[in-house]
Amino acid sequence: MGLRTAVLGASGYAGGELIRIIDDHPSFEVAHLGAHSKAGVDLASVHPNLTGGDRRLLPNEEVPDVDLAFLALPHGASWEIGDALAQRGIKVVDLGSDYRLDTDARYRFAYGSPHPLPDRLTDWVYGLPELFRDAVATANLVASPGCYPTSALLALAPLLSAGLIRPEGIVVDSLSGVTGAGRKATEGLMFTAVDQSVAAYAIGSHRHRPEIEMALTQATGTSPSVSFTPHLVPMQRGLLSTCSAPLSDGVDLADLQAALDGAYRDEPFVDAIDRAPQTRWVVGSNRALVHGAIDVHAGRAIVVAVLDNLVKGAAGQAVQAANLMFGLDETAGLAMTGWMP
Ligand SMILES: NC(=O)c1ccc[n+]([C@@H]2O[C@H](COP(=O)([O-])OP(=O)(O)OC[C@H]3O[C@@H](n4cnc5c(N)ncnc54)[C@H](OP(=O)(O)O)[C@@H]3O)[C@@H](O)[C@H]2O)c1
Repeated sequence: MGLRTAVLGASGYAGGELIRIIDDHPSFEVAHLGAHSKAGVDLASVHPNLTGGDRRLLPNEEVPDVDLAFLALPHGASWEIGDALAQRGIKVVDLGSDYRLDTDARYRFAYGSPHPLPDRLTDWVYGLPELFRDAVATANLVASPGCYPTSALLALAPLLSAGLIRPEGIVVDSLSGVTGAGRKATEGLMFTAVDQSVAAYAIGSHRHRPEIEMALTQATGTSPSVSFTPHLVPMQRGLLSTCSAPLSDGVDLADLQAALDGAYRDEPFVDAIDRAPQTRWVVGSNRALVHGAIDVHAGRAIVVAVLDNLVKGAAGQAVQAANLMFGLDETAGLAMTGWMP
């Protein structure tokens, strides 16, 4: 018998990906499928692509004794149940944003209101394995990074750590497939609204910017200022971030590539490659690709990163962290190759 897991938010996109991954995982098994409005229906009615469709979705709150709970709930729906599970001694990986920011001040800045449990924020470890592996491996409570921050952090952290770029004037332009916005039906996500059109949103105000700055500070000891602009593009999955920053004096392309190669040579899920990556190359896998270049004219480093927002950006990354938390092979149950075309 495997380690028993609960998936809360099982009816959503990230929840569906969690079930898909855990059902094939050598050490984890799904013991509870939690949902909100869809509680009471069979899995097949919300995720007909998954086997075991006669499994019933139950209310999120009715979590039995499990070893680990994954929370794939909207912002604001995780903090209470996450804390209750923690009090029961259950390990938790939260895919949402309720526990990602480390201080109440940062949370207030991002969300405009105080955190409901500010004293608990430091109990949660920010779960990007490539930057915080040791902390994740010893954590009971992990706040899994957002999909945009994952791409930006993988692109920028090695360069900032090595002093190859300056921390002021960093720009992150990101493009995401529509699944990044979740499954709920809204007018702006209708086929007619997103097909054959591209739009920026949350310009200058997206809540992932404070998260990117926080994690870069924690990982590199610098105090970066980041301008972040997300865009919704007409594809199902996949995310591409073009990250640029002023080069430090005397830095050339070889320095940049050596830093990225060195950072990811031994990483199972991240590769530094020598050409501009496409989202198509990673969709379906837990892999991220980064490519470093230099704009000589502007004196800026440019790093392009791609990942699948629902895998390395969400469910895959959460399972990667869970593998570490239980001392398992970090790659257990996770796809290394994507679907193409
Ligand atoms: N989508 C991505 O690419 C992505 C990437 C990284 C992180 N995340 C994060 O992962 C979380 C889930 O995202 P998602 O895209 O899977 O969202 P989603 O498709 O909209 O699914 C949301 C899930 O939460 C449940 N839910 C809705 N309202 C709730 C409430 N008030 N209380 C408790 N449960 C509620 C829904 O249940 P019912 O359907 O039964 O109502 C559904 O199972 C979010 O925090 C998101 O920011 C998503």
